[in-house]
Amino acid sequence: MNDRISLLNDPDRYSAKLPVWEGRLRLWHWTNLLVITLLILSYLIFDNHKLLGLPKPQTVFFQKTHIILGYLFVALLLLRLHLASKGAPFSRWKDLDPRHEGKGFVTVLREEIALHMRPATDASGLPVPDPDPGHNRLGRYLYLPLLVVILPLQAITGLLWASLKFGWLPLPFLHTLSHPAFSATKWVVSNIHAAILYAILGFIALHLLGLVKYELTFASDLFSSMIHGKKILTKRAVENYQKEVDP
Ligand code: HEM
Ligand code: HEM
Repeated sequence: MNDRISLLNDPDRYSAKLPVWEGRLRLWHWTNLLVITLLILSYLIFDNHKLLGLPKPQTVFFQKTHIILGYLFVALLLLRLHLASKGAPFSRWKDLDPRHEGKGFVTVLREEIALHMRPATDASGLPVPDPDPGHNRLGRYLYLPLLVVILPLQAITGLLWASLKFGWLPLPFLHTLSHPAFSATKWVVSNIHAAILYAILGFIALHLLGLVKYELTFASDLFSSMIHGKKILTKRAVENYQKEVDP
């Protein structure tokens, strides 16, 4: 522990602590975590209503709670997508795209895996953290598909489900579709919506494993960065930070 603290305070290793995550991004991150947790909890309750001995009105209550939380989830997702085009530099698409120096997704992925498995070492033989001040470049391979495919698909299928099942917004007429069309739409929507739960759980597991592995390998301060917004950066990361913030 002491070693870690002295590494964090070693000016030869980490040269500055600078604001990276803007307030709106942090607010999105933690509110989104809370809402997703409640969405999964409400699903577990209505899906296990028989086991829990819940009467029909209470089951419907939890289904409707799930949808209202779902609308909140959609609003949060729109906020995150807005930040990706109009937010601070480290919230933007550019900082979520792993490609750089003209290299494509596969080449960068290979390089980043090697870099994280066998990091370069400094004069004292300690692994050197990556030079990106914002999103970790390997982490971008999780964040980008999450924000572009997984979460939007869950939002779209959830909204369609709400219209099909209860005639709620955005497409209330789906509730009154004729039998074959209704069943086919319900089958597609429900299966995609259910499958994406596992994609989200997979993302969370990899996200947490990646964060723990990074902190242990590089004695960094990632976890708290998403709370106070600041990251401790190496000299090279500070140079890249300045290019990013003041191009
Ligand atoms: C991370 C976000 C979400 C997760 C993890 C999640 C999870 C689930 C799961 C696992 C089911 C059961 C499988 C199925 O019937 O398809 C379900 C059902 C449902 N979800 Fe979601 N959902 C999310 C977001 C949403 C959103 C955004 C909405 C709508 C605004 C929504 C509306 C519904 C509806 C209407 C059902 C059917 C309920 C029923 O069977 O009566 N969900 N959700
Ligand atoms: C206990 C749960 C979680 C913890 C402790 C956590 C922690 C963190 C931390 C420390 C970062 C900064 C990492 C970096 O520098 O690259 C981060 C970034 C991120 N996390 Fe999480 N996270 C959690 C759950 C989630 C969940 C549930 C989601 C979404 C489904 C999520 C989505 C993201 C995204 C997209 C980023 C990149 C920042 C952005 O562009 O918005 N996290 N998380």
